[in-house]
Amino acid sequence: MERAPIPLPELRLPAFGAWEPGWFLLTAGENRPGAFNSMTVSWGALGVIWHRPLAVVVVRPQRYTRQFMERYDTFSLCAFDESHRAALNLLGTQSGRDTRKMTECGLTPIALTTIPCPGYAEAELILECRKMYFDDLEPAHFLADFIAPNYQNDYHRMYFGEVVAAAGTGRFRGPG
Ligand SMILES: Cc1cc2nc3c(=O)[nH]c(=O)nc-3n(C[C@H](O)[C@H](O)[C@H](O)COP(=O)(O)O)c2cc1C
Repeated sequence: MERAPIPLPELRLPAFGAWEPGWFLLTAGENRPGAFNSMTVSWGALGVIWHRPLAVVVVRPQRYTRQFMERYDTFSLCAFDESHRAALNLLGTQSGRDTRKMTECGLTPIALTTIPCPGYAEAELILECRKMYFDDLEPAHFLADFIAPNYQNDYHRMYFGEVVAAAGTGRFRGPG
């Protein structure tokens, strides 16, 4: 996929649709076989905090990717076109802990420009992120009754990443 660097003020993507139904692939680790893992995510946000561009992802404790999120300082978020939906389905329903999903998915890991974590050659958008903050969701703070049924004591850990670089196809770039 042909991607070019995108200055963050010019990054264009649908604030909600990019996550659902769009989906991202969250990858953490470093670019050596077996040293990174990927999982599909559709809950998260892009925004600004502390005058920095922000990507929020939420990762349950039982995800194998979570171990890599803890061990490494950086992560990537990749978006794909519809032709890769099956790969994202696989990566979002099987665990790298006990399957060969990382090779079976057919996606091609690539080195990124500013972080040791890999992205994917087939992605149409890649966000390179450096962890700034984490916190665990606190059930005592749930203010709506539709939240608790999502959990069986496996509350997400949220990670705030500073988006340090973005690269994408032309459709992700627009006037600031
Ligand atoms: C569309 C979709 C969205 C998902 N979003 C999240 C998410 O935001 N956070 C999360 O912890 N798991 C999410 N998952 C589940 C993980 O992707 C799934 O459990 C995956 O198999 C974990 O892989 P791993 O054990 O190799 O890390 C999602 C799954 C799908 C299919």
